[in-house]
Amino acid sequence: MAAATGVVMLLAAALAILAPSTRALDRAEFPPGFLFGAATSAYQIEGAYLEDGKGLSNWDVFTHTHSGNIADGRNGDVADDHYHRYMHGTESAHRQSPEDVEIMHSLGVNSYRFSISWARILPRGRLGGVNSAGIAFYDQLIVALLQKGIEPFVTLHHFDLPHELETRYGGWLGAGIREEFDHYADVCFQAFGDRVKFWTTFNEPNMMTRLTYMLGMYPPNHCSPPFGNCNSGNSQWEPYVAAHNIIMSHAAAVDNYKKNYQAKQGGSIGIVISMKYYEPLTNTTVDILAARRALSFEIHWFLDPIFFGEYPKEMREMLSSNLPKFTLAEKILLENKVDFIGVNHYTAIYAKDCISSPCDLNTYEGNALVFATGQRDGVQIGKSTALVGFYDVPEAMEQIIKYVNQRYENTPIYVTENGYSQHNSNSMEDMINDVGRVNYLRGYLSSISSAVRRGANVHGYFVWSIMDNFEWVFGFTVRFGMYHVDFTTQERTPKMSAKWYRDFLMGYAPLGEVQTLRADS
Ligand code: NOJ
Repeated sequence: MAAATGVVMLLAAALAILAPSTRALDRAEFPPGFLFGAATSAYQIEGAYLEDGKGLSNWDVFTHTHSGNIADGRNGDVADDHYHRYMHGTESAHRQSPEDVEIMHSLGVNSYRFSISWARILPRGRLGGVNSAGIAFYDQLIVALLQKGIEPFVTLHHFDLPHELETRYGGWLGAGIREEFDHYADVCFQAFGDRVKFWTTFNEPNMMTRLTYMLGMYPPNHCSPPFGNCNSGNSQWEPYVAAHNIIMSHAAAVDNYKKNYQAKQGGSIGIVISMKYYEPLTNTTVDILAARRALSFEIHWFLDPIFFGEYPKEMREMLSSNLPKFTLAEKILLENKVDFIGVNHYTAIYAKDCISSPCDLNTYEGNALVFATGQRDGVQIGKSTALVGFYDVPEAMEQIIKYVNQRYENTPIYVTENGYSQHNSNSMEDMINDVGRVNYLRGYLSSISSAVRRGANVHGYFVWSIMDNFEWVFGFTVRFGMYHVDFTTQERTPKMSAKWYRDFLMGYAPLGEVQTLRADS
């Protein structure tokens, strides 16, 4: 307990003394081979939701049956129409105007993080056949990227799964899904692994299981009081059962990759975790412990089993029999090491204890008995962004990298997501002149550069996102892209941030805080 308190106090102190960086930001500060890219996911950009043999996914069904749960009632049926617009030219069956791969190339990124749609590859899961058109699509995308010198960085599961598996196993609640995932991963390693050198099994399973089975916001909309009132579900144990199946699915895929593919294909495999940085709201022991608990439920929940074969102590104590236990066979499977950790980091937030005094527990951190707030004594932790609870706190990036390096055996880190959301606006000019995003990216990249100077084991950075896209329950109401997308015409227009990122990657980024730059400058 004392040691834990010490760690959190140390981190809090380090965070407090770090002023936002005013140093110039130079690509040359990053080690050679550092990956600089942008990220997307299948459901958020592809569209073509029923084309070329693709099966329905859980998100296809959810957005159609629960459109009231999506801020603008819309869905990813078309999204960015990326399926038809990833490249142009005669070599592609999917053609059209100069598009997404070209856009990435023009930015100068050397990597692109995207996810594969499971339902496009195995429309009915393991029991149906492989959809060759799905394989062909990703094949062509990978070839197009490599031709432009862009390294594919591939996620196997980014929230969407074949609807049939949702029905057959209750999604991640049924242990049978482990074999399904293992099979799906194997099909992908076999089909693409000769060219894909970076694999991640799951994207943000920690966030996904809480939003799915605790708060009931994601399909299939499961929850119970005090976390919400859904038609079915049990918020006290379902998130942990689902997480257990995900952890073991991850472990089986890693085991298979290491035994059967890694030596001949020469790639690496990891997992991506959503990581908020939690700072104690006050300097009291209870809030310091609350921040520790929040980090535990956020990060240690998935990474402790993967690294140490056991759930974190805080979770075992608080959840007792609601938290599954690892069998000996499971622990043995977990002994395979991941090659890297993917860190999705957007924000820091204050943690307030809810054990010593009551708070609203119907929140993301409610299961850790923590209330998260952006305000301390009326002062906000950082500038607001369009998503509630997401603040611009760049110095937390360095802290989270340091924390993960220290706790998890200095395993290499890739910052697999970091980005800034804007409100949808009627003014194109407002949306294109995204000064807030430029300042956000500059601040967070400076923080990574500072981590690098201090010896952090970090090897890559991906902006979320290359272009505006379908932001899950927020639909198209917020925009994360460096490229503006007109969702009627599908026209992509570079925002100021795209030009800023390109300039940074080419080695001549503007220095200091941006106040007045125009997109066309
Ligand atoms: C997390 C998710 O991985 C991604 O799908 C989402 O759009 C961004 N962060 C922004 O919320």
